[in-house]
Amino acid sequence: MFSSILVAVDGSESANKAFQRAIYLAQKCSSKMDLVHVIQCEVGGDSANTFEIIDDVKDKAMKTLEKHRVEAAKNNVPIQITIMQGDPAKAIIDIAKAKSYDLIIMGTRGRSSFQELLIGSVSQKVMHHASCPVMVVR
Ligand SMILES: Nc1ncnc2c1ncn2[C@@H]1O[C@H](COP(=O)(O)OP(=O)(O)OP(=O)(O)O)[C@@H](O)[C@H]1O
Ligand SMILES: [Mg+2]
Repeated sequence: MFSSILVAVDGSESANKAFQRAIYLAQKCSSKMDLVHVIQCEVGGDSANTFEIIDDVKDKAMKTLEKHRVEAAKNNVPIQITIMQGDPAKAIIDIAKAKSYDLIIMGTRGRSSFQELLIGSVSQKVMHHASCPVMVVR
């Protein structure tokens, strides 16, 4: 039913919960599962310093994502990892469409400190605009 699943992670507890559920589902459905993390870079310009900062952020993100890869592999779910740059919701929607995933799994909340909302803006935007079903894990 869900032959290819995209899991969006931002390092938050909520995204980690989504990742755990995704592993379970991928096992049950024998799905191919990939992980995406989007770097939302606040630094501007094209100086060497800017590129250095972005590379550093990418390296740190990759280390976190590697832990997910190890955990997924332990559960016999091989995953591919993609790091993108830009607006997180737009990047998730675009890659899901481009690679024809048939399910996106994400958390309700992310790393933001504005916790009064029930659901974060990235999840909300992906739910509204994705071209495939979206599972938001509470
Ligand atoms: N940069 C990102 N890359 C990949 N997935 C992300 C990213 N940001 C958020 N997500 C996904 O979206 C889910 C919800 O996070 P979201 O950013 O919508 O909430 P928030 O951080 O609490 O609020 P907001 O960002 O709107 O202030 C996360 O659990 C994660 O699955
Ligand atoms: Mg967020």
